[in-house]
Amino acid sequence: MTDLNINIERLCARLTALGEVGALEGGGNCRLALTEEDRQGRDLVVSWMHALGLQVTTDQIGNVIGVRPNAKGEIELPVLMGSHIDTVATGGLYDGNLGVLAGLEVIEVLNEQRLQTERPVAVAFFTNEEGARFAPDMMGSGVSQGSMDLATCLAATGIDGTTVGEDLQRIGYAGDAACGTWRASAYFELHVEQGPVLERGEFQIGAVTGVQGISWTEWTFRGQSNHAGTTPMNMRCDAGVVASQVVCFVRALAKQMGGSQVATVGAMTFAPNLINVVPNKVTMTVDLRNTDETLLQQAEQATVEFVQGVAAAEGVTVASRSLARFEPVRFDPQMVKLIESSAQAMDLGVHCLPSGAGHDAQMFAPNCPTAMIFVPSVKGISHNVKEFTSAQDIEAGSNLLLNVVLKTAQEPA
Ligand code: GLV
Ligand code: MN
Ligand code: MN
Repeated sequence: MTDLNINIERLCARLTALGEVGALEGGGNCRLALTEEDRQGRDLVVSWMHALGLQVTTDQIGNVIGVRPNAKGEIELPVLMGSHIDTVATGGLYDGNLGVLAGLEVIEVLNEQRLQTERPVAVAFFTNEEGARFAPDMMGSGVSQGSMDLATCLAATGIDGTTVGEDLQRIGYAGDAACGTWRASAYFELHVEQGPVLERGEFQIGAVTGVQGISWTEWTFRGQSNHAGTTPMNMRCDAGVVASQVVCFVRALAKQMGGSQVATVGAMTFAPNLINVVPNKVTMTVDLRNTDETLLQQAEQATVEFVQGVAAAEGVTVASRSLARFEPVRFDPQMVKLIESSAQAMDLGVHCLPSGAGHDAQMFAPNCPTAMIFVPSVKGISHNVKEFTSAQDIEAGSNLLLNVVLKTAQEPA
C-alpha cells in the first residue's frame, strides 16, 4: 500500500462546485444528458482536466477522456478511472460525479508527487449514463467499447424530441476521436452504492462483484376516449385501466419472485389526461432487473403475457418498444479480489456485493480488467436530491482508488 493520501477538502470542493451547476432546491442537481446544464458541467470538468495538464480528447459520442502520459510519454492503453456527470432530473451530488472527480483527485496526487508511472493514467466522463433523457443508458461507454452502434445512438430521440447527434452539436461536444476501438488496459470506477447494504452492515467499502441485468420497455396502450359520465362501465376501452393494472402486476411479480428481482414503472403519460374523459392512450415504462438472466427473462415473459391478457379484456391495443436490455455482468474475480484485499490492507471494512444500478464499468468489463468500488449511501437513498455519502467514506473510497490505480499503473501492461 502507498502512504499517499488524497486531499479530501479539494475533492469535496470540486463535488460542491460541480453540484452548483444545475443546482436544485434541497441540495441535489439536475444535469440531464446534453442539456445546457450538462454543457456547463462538462466545461467545468474539462477546465480541471486542462489545469492538471491532461491530454484531453472528445470522441464522436461526446465522451471526454483526459490522459496523463506514462514515463515514456505514451498515452495508449491507460489505466482508466471513469464514470458520468449527467444526472437524472432529481439527481444527488454523488451519483457518477464522485467517480470522475475522485479520478481527477488521484491524478492531482500523482502530479504533486511528480510520480512517473509505467502505464498512462486517465480519467473520463461518459455521455448519457443515466438514460433519463435518451435511451439506452450507459450510451457513451457502450459506444466507446463497441457494444452499441454509434449511428444508432446519434439518431436516438429523447424525451424533448431532439436527437443525441443534434444536442452533441448544440452543446459543442460532438468530438472527432473514433469510438468503438479505443481501449483502456484496466478500468476502475468509484461510485456510491445507491442502496442500503453497506450502511446496514456498517461496511465502508463495497467490492462490486457485477451488475444486474436491466430490461427497459416502453408500452403504449390505445383505447377509446369517451365521456366519463355517460359511458357504461362495460362499454369502455380504457387505456388507463390497463396501464394501472400493469403497475400493480409488475410490483406483485417482483415481490413474488423475490431474490434480486425488482420492477419499477417510473414514467406514465395519459392522453388526453382530463378528469372527465376516458383515456384513449397511455405510454408507460417498465424497468425490470435481476442478477440472473434466466429469471429476468421469466419476468419479461410474465409481463408480456399479463399485458396481452389485460389489454384484450379491455379492448385496448398494445405496442411495445425495447429501450434498453443488458444481461447481468460479472466483474473479473481477480479484480474483485484486488479491491477486497486492498481495502483489508487499509483496515477498511469491506463487503462483496452486486450492483443494483447500471454503470459505465459494465461496458468496459468485456474488454479489460474492470473493477468497481462502492462507498455507502446514507439510508440507501439515490436518484434523489437527498443522496448523501459522508466525507469520511468518500475519503476512504478515494484512497482505495488511489492505491489500486497506482499499483496497476506501476505494472507493465
Ligand atoms: C442508472 O443509473 C440506472 O441504473 O438506471
Ligand atoms: Mn451512476
Ligand atoms: Mn444514476
